[in-house]
This record gives sequence, C-alpha cells and structure tokens, in this order.
Amino acid sequence: MTPEEFRTHGHALIDWIADYRSTLHERPVMSPLRPGVVAAQLSAAAPEAGEDPAAVLADLDRVVLPGLSLWQHPEFFHFFPANAELSSVLGDIASTGLGVLGLSWESSPALSEVEIRTMDWMRELLGLSEGWRGVVQDSASGCALTAMLEARERASGFAMHAGGTDQGRDRMVVYCTAQAHSSVPKAMLLAGFGRQNVREVPVDADYAMDAQALRAIVAEDRAAGLRPAAVVATCGTTATTALDPLAEIGRIAQDEDLWFHVDAAMAGSAMLLPECRWMWEGVELADSLVVNAHKWLGVAFDCSLFFVKDPVFLEKVMATHPSYLQSSHDEDVVNLRDWGVPLGRRFRALKLWFMLRMEGAEALRARLRRDLDNAAWLAAQVDAAEGWERVAPTPLQTVCVRHVPAGLDPADPADAEAIDAHTRASAQAVNASGKAAVSLATLEGRWMVRLSVGALGTEREHVERLWKVLGEAVAR
Ligand SMILES: Cc1ncc(COP(=O)(O)O)c(C=O)c1O
Repeated sequence: MTPEEFRTHGHALIDWIADYRSTLHERPVMSPLRPGVVAAQLSAAAPEAGEDPAAVLADLDRVVLPGLSLWQHPEFFHFFPANAELSSVLGDIASTGLGVLGLSWESSPALSEVEIRTMDWMRELLGLSEGWRGVVQDSASGCALTAMLEARERASGFAMHAGGTDQGRDRMVVYCTAQAHSSVPKAMLLAGFGRQNVREVPVDADYAMDAQALRAIVAEDRAAGLRPAAVVATCGTTATTALDPLAEIGRIAQDEDLWFHVDAAMAGSAMLLPECRWMWEGVELADSLVVNAHKWLGVAFDCSLFFVKDPVFLEKVMATHPSYLQSSHDEDVVNLRDWGVPLGRRFRALKLWFMLRMEGAEALRARLRRDLDNAAWLAAQVDAAEGWERVAPTPLQTVCVRHVPAGLDPADPADAEAIDAHTRASAQAVNASGKAAVSLATLEGRWMVRLSVGALGTEREHVERLWKVLGEAVAR
C-alpha cells in the first residue's frame, strides 16, 4: 500500500471508527452469535491476490461487527471498563504508523524519553512520591511476573540467577489471598516458587487480606525453616474491588524482608482523585506497583503502568547486553528493555501521552467522579429494594449483588442451589437481551452478579436502565 493509498483508505477507516463509536449504543451489547458463525464466513485460505480495501472494510461491518461484544457500549457493565478514549486511539494509530521499536534508547530516543516523562506525569497524578520510577508494559500479568522474578532473586541473593533450580537454598514461600487476580498465583508459579509454596492468606469480612493472619503465617513458615520471599496485595480485587490493607501489609513486609508488590490494576485509576487515596494508604511501602491505564482510566488496550522503587535492582534481574544492541550512549541513558521481559517494545506511551494532553487530567477526574456517583446510586437502589442484597462493600465502581426470590432463604443451605440457579439465569437473560451486559462470579462459593460501572459513555440514564433491566430479569 502506498502512502497515498493509505491516505484514502485511512480516511475511510477513521470515518468508519467514528460512525461505529457514535452508533454503537444502537447495537446489542453482547454478541448474539453462536460459536463458529464468524469462522464460517471466513475463507479457509489466505488470498493469493490482494483484495479491494473497500471490500475488507465492508467485511468489518458484515462479518466482524456482529461477532463483537461491545466494550465501549454505554450499557456495558461486564468484566471491567476497558475504556478506549478516542484521543488515545489516535496515539495508538500514530504509534503503529510510525512503525518504530524501542530495543534500546538509540533505536528510538523519543520512544524512551516520552515514556519516561509520561510515567513521571502519571506518578504525580497518582499522588506517588518521587521515589518511584515507571515503565509502560503490556499487562498487569507481565508486571506481576517481573515483580515475582525480582522477589525470587532478592530472596535467593541471586542464587537462582546463577544456579537455576538447583540453587539448593531455603525453600521460598510467597503470599496472596484467594481474592488476588489469577495472574498473581500464575506469576508466582512461573517465577518458580511452586504451587505448594504459594500461601493463601485468609480474608476478612470485606474480602480484604487479614494482615494479622499474614503475620502469623509468615512466623509459622519461618519457624518451619522456610524462607518467606514476597507478598502481593491487591488494591481493588477483581471480584469485588476489595482493598487489602497496604499499610499493615507493608509494615509486615518490612519487618520480614518480603518483596511487596501491589496490584492496583483496577483501583489505581481512582488514585487520580485525592479523596480516594486513603484506599492505598501504605502504597509507599511497596517495592513494585502496577496500575492498568487500559482499564477505567481510558487508554486503549494495552497500557500497564509498572512502577518500581529500585530500577537498578530491576536492571540487575532483567538486563541483557548483546553486542548488537550496544551504543555509545549506554552509560548516559535508560534502556527500557532492561525494565521488563520483552526486548522489542511498542511506542505504547504515545497513546497515554495523547490522552493526557488532549483530555487533560481534570476531565479524567470528572469522569471518574461521575462513575463513582453512578455506582453509589445503583448501590443505594439495591439496598432499598426488597429481595435484593449487596454481597460486598462498594468502595469504587463495582456493585456486587444478588436477588433472592420470595420464599427462599439465603441463610438456608438447602435454598443455595435454587438461589444460584436464579442468579445465573437472570444474568444470562440480561446478556441475551442485548440491552445490557453484566458478569457472573462466585464469592465464597455462591454466585453473584457483578455490575462494573464506568464505560466512557455510561451516564445516569444508562445505570437507571440497567436497574430496570435487572428488575425485569429477576421477575421472569
Ligand atoms: C486486579 C487485577 N489484576 C490483574 C488483572 C490482569 O490484568 P492484565 O489483563 O493487564 O494482565 C486484572 C484484570 O482484570 C485485575 O482486575
């Protein structure tokens, strides 16, 4: 494709995206298609001759769009808000169009310098101290893995680095709760700690880590001759946005010399709001921290903000110096490949930089506050309605609910199955209606409906409509 052809088809594509964004509220939120319907419309082999770009664009409408669940829909209350502000979409297009890679500072100096400066902006916007340094990564999962690799090397005194799995030192143990995202125990396993050494710390009545229980388990492990290595706390758990007590956990981490990683993938966005910062009081005690800018904050997927206190240690674990990547500036610059697993890095910071510059922090704060208000309104409706219960606190924008049909008793184990069946059927009915999308999850072995408020276009009227649709679904 020549630049002139790109200009023509690119304008058509931008028009297509703008039309899609301005009309998506007219479409069903969840794709109604059955498995295989999209695949059946795709040719079995790749084309030998190039096709008309207009035909490809037409197939976006004909084949792809009906097979998409619409995360940007104002009635999308499923999973979590994965907002893609159009300003950040422009940054993503610019990044891809530039076609540059960050293998080293020299390979694209501006890629590194825009990223470092934008991460400094984010550090300040989140109210973090100057002690943090940040890098943009692809996922909170990757950041958790990086943190666990650092933890492993610190606890083993780099013995794993040198001796691998035969390093023959103490058996190391790591800690999180059952409410931690699945990426956390996965990172612990991938870093080599082993399933039997991943400890589940009990949670309190609000599903947050019980810090005293952590202290006791660490003491027991030490008494048994094990080597406690790391604790991962979550600020805003996936199921209920529970807030682990970071200050208490941080003090234990300091006393016990544990690596302390904070997963604020979800709740981190709210820290743009000074009134929310109590939620991560103690975050300064952490060694590493992740905030997903590609969630509620609004940067088009993917954009995970990984902060560390000691980049020199991170480099010690991650750095590589092959001859083909060396340059005469290596002494004076940061090579961001040494701050994570991948060598080749996209210019991801550009979409964050575009969004921050084109929206401004105050507009982002206003949107977050709107969503918190809408979630509080929804929680109040649930609390006031007969037959409904809120099954977890609502510190942020996720409202966790259950409806109990008349005649059934949630405290009676004999009714549990019927209530679970009702919960699942009503959520599935909402999703099948195309009017809204909600998610199902279990909490203490019982099904609940998660209502995650905060899509870009979600206003109070949409939340009111969701409440009506839920009422219809439970009355079916
Ligand atoms: C609390 C929390 N941590 C981690 C993740 C994983 O994020 P990613 O998809 O960026 O790996 C999620 C995603 O939903 C999450 O809610």
